[in-house]
Amino acid sequence: MIYEMNDQRDFKGTLLFRYGTAIVLGVAALVIMRFFETEEEVTALQIPLVAVTLSSLFFGFFPGVLTALICSFAGAYLYLEPAHNMFIADHGETLHWWLFNVLALLMASITARLRSALIQNRRLRIQYESLYEEAKKAVKAREEVLAIVSHDLRNDLGSIMMNSELLLRNTNIDPKRPAAMIKRSGEQMNGLIENLLSLAKIDSGHLTLELSSHNARGLVDEALELVSPLAGQKSIQIQKQLLNDDVQIDCDQPKVIRIFSNLLGNSIKFMGKKGKIIISGKSEGDRYLFSVQDQGPGISEQDLPHIFDRFWQERKMAQKGTGLGLSIVKGIVEAHHGSVWVNSKFGEGSTFYFTLPLKQPRSETQPDVSNGKKSA
Ligand SMILES: Nc1ncnc2c1ncn2[C@@H]1O[C@H](COP(=O)(O)OP(=O)(O)OP(=O)(O)O)[C@@H](O)[C@H]1O
Ligand SMILES: [Mg+2]
Repeated sequence: MIYEMNDQRDFKGTLLFRYGTAIVLGVAALVIMRFFETEEEVTALQIPLVAVTLSSLFFGFFPGVLTALICSFAGAYLYLEPAHNMFIADHGETLHWWLFNVLALLMASITARLRSALIQNRRLRIQYESLYEEAKKAVKAREEVLAIVSHDLRNDLGSIMMNSELLLRNTNIDPKRPAAMIKRSGEQMNGLIENLLSLAKIDSGHLTLELSSHNARGLVDEALELVSPLAGQKSIQIQKQLLNDDVQIDCDQPKVIRIFSNLLGNSIKFMGKKGKIIISGKSEGDRYLFSVQDQGPGISEQDLPHIFDRFWQERKMAQKGTGLGLSIVKGIVEAHHGSVWVNSKFGEGSTFYFTLPLKQPRSETQPDVSNGKKSA
């Protein structure tokens, strides 16, 4: 295996290993040469050449040169009779040593180039493999999106068509129910399209945050206004327990509302009739920690690592959505440089946590981020 220095922390160790082994190779070549002592000198000098080639192939040009120098000087001292020095030995014998020196340098240079080409080739292969994996994932994601879109949008579209036909054909029925169904299906279609667009933006790194300062109370109240009718329909009570609720949070308000509506929406969706959801919050250092606690079915230990994966749904609950909500939550929280996690016990409910950055005190040199745009 070609030895590559790609970890700067290992620099000294790597250097020691490369040059150390180059010395060992040189010494080993000299020892093996002893067995060829009686034979033609040119034949014997082929052994150091092999050592130089191996050294520069595995460790690079300079270790190769080091091996060559050891073989050349120590070899001349040991085996160049009678002078033991290539600079003063008689003409016929020195010629071999100088020929060896030139060849050794040539070999070191050629093999080092070959080594660089091999390393480059390996890097390209790794790059190619990771690109191939990414492309495979992208194709899979596209297939999943197509499957979801064709399934879910068709369902909603079917419901819209059925109810509008009902309205058109039966003039004597109460239009309220079919109209409400049409509205709900339209909203669901819109939600799904929004989710897909958000994910596309998160994936491409183009989720733009419009940052401004908001207090925790305001954010939670706004989200509650959205989900209260849904909670009311199932007689679910939502409680607020916010500490330091007037500290300012730097965030994109509509996107934070989406975090809440996804988390609260899940809690309401997966809880039975009646029950309580608690939204808590407190500041912790330079961030604000929110949590949404429900009394729903909870999430089993084996499912917990997957719930933030895109399109992932617990099998029994698969009919109740598309499995995109939590991956969007994660994308938005991370775009704010926050974190999101969950604690849950199967059968006992779940608590989702997420953090957002508090507004930093403005220093003389720092620009104001309020109402500023930030691309995540
Ligand atoms: N509060 C919760 N209680 C129990 N299970 C949950 C809860 N929140 C999420 N889950 C589990 O995690 C899965 C993924 O949730 P996510 O919000 O991503 O998708 P979804 O709600 O199924 O669909 P979507 O949000 O796209 O409408 C859910 O299908 C469910 O199995
Ligand atoms: Mg959801």
